[in-house]
Amino acid sequence: MTDSTVDQSVPPLVLIDPAGTDRHGEAARLREVGPLVRVELPGGVRMWMVTDYKLLAELATDSRVGRDWRQWTALQRGEIPADWPLLSMIRLNNAMARDGAEHRRLRRPLTRTFTRSRVEGLRPRIDQIVATMLADLPNHVGLDGAVDLRKHYAYPFPMQVICELIGVPEAWWPLFRQLIDTVVRADTTAEEYMATQQKRHEMWQRLFAMRRAEPADDLTSAMIAVNEEDDDALTDEELEDTLWMLIGAGHETSISLIVNATRALLTHPEQLAEVRDGDADTWSLVIEETLRWDAPVGNFPARFPTEDVTVAGITIRKGDAILAPWSGVNRDPSQYGTDADQFDIGRQPQRHLAFGTGPHVCLGPALARLEASAALPALFARYPEMRLAVDPDELTAVPSIFSNSVTSLPVYLGAARD
Ligand code: HEM
Repeated sequence: MTDSTVDQSVPPLVLIDPAGTDRHGEAARLREVGPLVRVELPGGVRMWMVTDYKLLAELATDSRVGRDWRQWTALQRGEIPADWPLLSMIRLNNAMARDGAEHRRLRRPLTRTFTRSRVEGLRPRIDQIVATMLADLPNHVGLDGAVDLRKHYAYPFPMQVICELIGVPEAWWPLFRQLIDTVVRADTTAEEYMATQQKRHEMWQRLFAMRRAEPADDLTSAMIAVNEEDDDALTDEELEDTLWMLIGAGHETSISLIVNATRALLTHPEQLAEVRDGDADTWSLVIEETLRWDAPVGNFPARFPTEDVTVAGITIRKGDAILAPWSGVNRDPSQYGTDADQFDIGRQPQRHLAFGTGPHVCLGPALARLEASAALPALFARYPEMRLAVDPDELTAVPSIFSNSVTSLPVYLGAARD
């Protein structure tokens, strides 16, 4: 891989662990290297990583730095293989990958339909889904007496919520999960990646045809309707990528939030005791501190300066790629002090960058917070004796550049309380 656009006077190149084995340790080591580090991703692809909280916030809001992959010099020069798996998170035709007026156009059908009131209206249904899944959990206890909370609770729950919201037929959910997993996993092969792209296109085309023939009370029908009224409407391909973005963004991240918060509480019993005695506001402290301390989005690819930009004394060339380590900067001691590595629900202020910032700030915080505020208190209320079934050090990180969580969370449920 050539590196001709990168200024050679800058810090050394650091390899990023694609398996995310020690994500927070890696973030701390990269911070030691400097506020801006050159990193290498799997496949030998090079990017800049911003390790400083304030600097990342500045760059994410800087109008000279965009998200449009067509600006990426290495890609234009044919240096990135067409089947490089992380391209599925970069080479999109939705709001995530456009800037300025085009970004606003692509976000519009979402901001008009995925409204706060639509989200708040989901609360009764979300509580129902949670109650059914909690009652079912004992059926998944294995021979060792433990149940994997990720697999049987945190994983199916947001997928069901987002699929019902979008209107994906129930019979398709397992396939959609499989397609999303292929995108998130670090070990996806080129063949799997190409097959995923084809399959998801096929499924969206089928869904659009169904909803155009007969609209339903779901986000797909609502988006099709507002889009048709718009003079500058989205193409079908853009609509597909937009809905895919919602499922991708609203699935893996919410699983991680629920898993990471549960793990944090089970490994901090004194804070769990505090939250048990508390109210809805105390649960909100848990959710916000989890978003800071163990943010679901590890590293997000990618941003591209549209002109040379000098930060921290280093020039990032037009068309270089920048990786945003949202989970890493949330533990930056220059922002949070020397105890930045501690989980502390009493921390004030709780402000964090788990949802990003700037024009591309997340569209789903209301839904993510609603899901977590339904799933967590109900879980701990129903299984008050719940404890981890393994040593916390034995938990394995999700093998991903993007996703910050663990692959399983085995617990002993203990007696259920109705
Ligand atoms: C705990 C859960 C979540 C976390 C931590 C999270 C985090 C993020 C982050 C960090 C970004 C910005 C990425 C960047 O620019 O570098 C983002 C963007 C986005 N998120 Fe979320 N997200 C979560 C849940 C959701 C949900 C539930 C949805 C919708 C169903 C959603 C929809 C989006 C969309 C559409 C964008 C792109 C916005 C744009 O580029 O204009 N997210 N999210």
